[in-house]
Order: sequence, then C-alpha cells, then structure tokens
Amino acid sequence: MSPAPNLLPMPAHVAIIMDGNGRWARQRGLPRLEGHRRGVESVRTVTHAARALGIRMLTLYAFSVENWRRPEEEVGGLMALLETFLALEKAGMIRDQVRLRAIGRIDALPPRARSALLDTIAATAHCTGHTLVLALNYGARTEVLDAARAFAAGVAAGTARLEDADTWEGFARHLYTHDLPDPDLVIRTSGETRLSNFLLVQSAYAEFVFSPVLWPEFGRAELESAVNDYRRRERRYGLTGEQVSHPGPGISSQTEPAPAII
Ligand code: IPE
Ligand code: IPE
Ligand code: MG
Repeated sequence: MSPAPNLLPMPAHVAIIMDGNGRWARQRGLPRLEGHRRGVESVRTVTHAARALGIRMLTLYAFSVENWRRPEEEVGGLMALLETFLALEKAGMIRDQVRLRAIGRIDALPPRARSALLDTIAATAHCTGHTLVLALNYGARTEVLDAARAFAAGVAAGTARLEDADTWEGFARHLYTHDLPDPDLVIRTSGETRLSNFLLVQSAYAEFVFSPVLWPEFGRAELESAVNDYRRRERRYGLTGEQVSHPGPGISSQTEPAPAII
C-alpha cells in the first residue's frame, strides 16, 4: 500500500533505547532483575510487532559499556537473561527469517553469553526477511575509537588510504554499523530524554520519539504510536520545507537518503 500524501513511509530502521526496567520493578516492590525479566517479554512483543508493521530492521540497546558499573548481581543476571533469550528465540528467528546481528565490543562479553550470541548470529546469517541488531557492550564513543583505530591500522598496513576519511562514507566503513543503514527513528522509553552514548553518529538525521512508558509496559500500541508520530514529520536534511515538498533537479525528496555530507 502506498503511503497517504504527506505521510512519511514506514521507517526502515527503528532503534530503541529500552529504559525503565528498574523503575518498573521498584514501583512494584520487586527486585530489579524482575524488571529485566519483564523487559525481555517486551523485547518479544516489540520485535513481533515491528515485523507485523513492516519494519525491516530493529536495533535494541540492551547493554551499554557504562552498564558494567552496575552491581555484579545485576550484570550477571542480565548476561544470563541474554543467554536464555537467545536459546529460546533461535528457532523462531530462523522460522521468521530474522537475521541477528550485534554491535559493540562483543569479544569482551562473558564467554557463555558471547558464544550464545555468535551461535545465533551464525544460525540466522542466511535469513533475509528482517534484521534484529542487539547493541551489547555498546558505546558510541567506544565505537568511534574502535573505528579510528581500525582506520589507522588499515592505513599503516596499506589496506586503507588516508583519503578514505575525506568523506563520512569512507570513514563509516570502519564503524560496527558499516553494513547497516542509519536509523530513521530512535525511540527512548521511560521518560528520559537523553541518548546515553547510543548510535551518536548514526543518528545524525534520525527522528526521535521519547515515550514516558517504562520498557516492561511498552508494547505494540506504543510502538505504533511512535511510528505514527514519526510518519507525520518532515525530514529536511538541511533543505528548506519548500525544497522538500517540491524537489527540483538535483534535490532528493524527503523519502530518499540524505545527500552525502562530509
Ligand atoms: C534498562 O532499564 C535496561 C538496561 C539498561 C540494561 P534500567 O535498568 O536502566 O531501568 P531504570 O532506568 O533503572 O528504571
Ligand atoms: C541506557 O540506559 C542503556 C541501555 C538501555 C542498555 P541507562 O539506564 O544505562 O542510561 P542512563 O544511565 O540512565 O543514562
Ligand atoms: Mg535506565
């Protein structure tokens, strides 16, 4: 179905900062880990809802480089939940043609979580319907550091050229997201209005929706409402509103990717 006039098409890539598990649990007098357990239920609901809405790619911020500083018990519980989630979801992901990807310093995850992750990534590598990206041990600044290091190492080894970094596209080849499109829509739940080191450079032209709903309560209706909010916006990429609504020669319309920006 073609989009109604003045509505953006469905976002191809939605990224979510899943926040509020701890507060959800505290409000009910439950341990924080119970909030994370309920958060995993929301992951299931929202991944299915995203697929049903026709969203091809979903990135979920599951664990940040800063989250290691939480109590050891909580960190251990989160890693165990990740393992269980992957073990339970693997068959369904293959059935539903969902390819799993991960961004972040994956090598530094605990061995069991890492191997469950790598196993599911390999098992779903052939799936072409949808992509689920888990940001794990992820930090945007760490990502930029890792990219700069990879680029410099490439230049030293002769596999990259200094001129590659004359354009953003050339440098972005070294990011974790080198083969993923930028997010169209970034959602953060729980009423916080910050990015907490998530996809800082990829979100340069993303649209943002901040929902007051805590992640364990975030479901299909909330996702649909965020997407509907997104679709009513105008993405201008530095152009004027007039240029966007009446694109002349050489100017891409609002539904096309932004012109290359250095
Ligand atoms: C998000 O919920 C999950 C992770 C960061 C792993 P929080 O655990 O941050 O929940 P709040 O912010 O304490 O409510
Ligand atoms: C961001 O949430 C990280 C994830 C959702 C995984 P946090 O709860 O860690 O962020 P801050 O500390 O409130 O900024
Ligand atoms: Mg939080």
